[in-house]
Amino acid sequence: SKGKYEHYMQKEIHEQPESLTTTMRGRLIRGGSSKKKSVLLGGLKDHLKTIRRSRRIVFIGCGTSYNAALAARPVLEELCGIPVMMEIASDLLDRQAPVYRDDTILFVSQSGETADTLNALEYALENGALCVGITNTVGSSIARNTHCGVHINAGSEIGVASTKAYTSQIVVMAMVALAIGADTISTKQRREGIIESLLSLPGKIKEVLKLDQEMKDLARSLISEQSLLMFGRGYNYATALEGALKVKEVALMHSEGILAGEMKHGPLALVDENLPIVVIATRDQCFSKQQSVIQQLKARKGRLIVMCTEGDAAAVCGGSCRVIEVPQVVDCLQPVVNIVPLQLLAYHLTVLRGYNVDQPRNLAKSVTTE
Ligand code: UD1
Ligand code: F6R
Repeated sequence: SKGKYEHYMQKEIHEQPESLTTTMRGRLIRGGSSKKKSVLLGGLKDHLKTIRRSRRIVFIGCGTSYNAALAARPVLEELCGIPVMMEIASDLLDRQAPVYRDDTILFVSQSGETADTLNALEYALENGALCVGITNTVGSSIARNTHCGVHINAGSEIGVASTKAYTSQIVVMAMVALAIGADTISTKQRREGIIESLLSLPGKIKEVLKLDQEMKDLARSLISEQSLLMFGRGYNYATALEGALKVKEVALMHSEGILAGEMKHGPLALVDENLPIVVIATRDQCFSKQQSVIQQLKARKGRLIVMCTEGDAAAVCGGSCRVIEVPQVVDCLQPVVNIVPLQLLAYHLTVLRGYNVDQPRNLAKSVTTE
């Protein structure tokens, strides 16, 4: 039931502090006399040695699940030291791309029933890869047919637009990275820092949800736009893609996520004083590069909405553009926080434009045909 909420999407956005808590429950071990912190994923523990020996790790998914994998890719690369490749399920099949026996393939799917992802799983099994599922649905086809995996335990998601599953998927994949990398002494401090940040994440999501009214006001200012661009890079390239996907699928507004590093290679031509552009510029190692992107967009009179770390409004655009200030967490988990205002924005845009939030036209929750 929707309880006090008007729509499932709204309920599912607002319950993320709880869904993330459930996702992590029993899986983060803190304490002992040594104050040791570690991750325990029951579904992976017997397979970690094999995964560590694999030549590459490949993520396969569609839509939001692909975006979640993209958000987790940098931390997986960092902690595992194994090349991580990204594949959209249908594209892997279209190309009949090579898959090897010493590949570990992570199949990411909320429903566990997406036809494209299932077909890719069948293909990978035939080719002898180790197939790992990351799914929300116990007993689903992907959960049953993978060699092993992790349930994200986000609770059932009813709104067609995926919201709480996205944040839980990123958290699970960060935990997978921590588990695979747990045998590397040189990353111990980094891993402990990430675990600490995971534990504080539900509280940070509670804080960022307080932007609800601000996002409603922002949505009101965008209600009759034709298009909305979102620029991100590094950890938050995925945030740009996922924010844009939410806006287009529920608010039925054209929106495009753009890798900021590609700006000068085409998208810059679109910039004028009318087109609204969200720029994600929270603190991480890409911050100074994003600052220069903002300067260049401003030089072309771009209509900017900048997402920045709390307290950074003046630093990012000298007070001359609209800002969304979000609480800071460890860099690799920042996408979990940053997507929330964009989910709220898409939600309010949809309601204000008078469209069906929970069942956007032409879409189904689970895409069981190719
Ligand atoms: C499991 C129990 C959980 C219990 C916990 C206690 C289930 C579903 N989970 O959680 O109720 O509280 O032990 O220790 O009974 N798997 C796949 N493919 C997938 C997802 C999972 O093969 O896509 C497999 C895993 O390898 C594992 C099993 O399903 O063998 C359960 O996975 P998961 O629920 O993530 O394991 P735990 O967190 O240990
Ligand atoms: C977007 C959305 C879709 C799904 C995609 C994959 O909000 O819901 O893009 O993410 O159809 O579905 P799953 O994760 O069930 O495989």
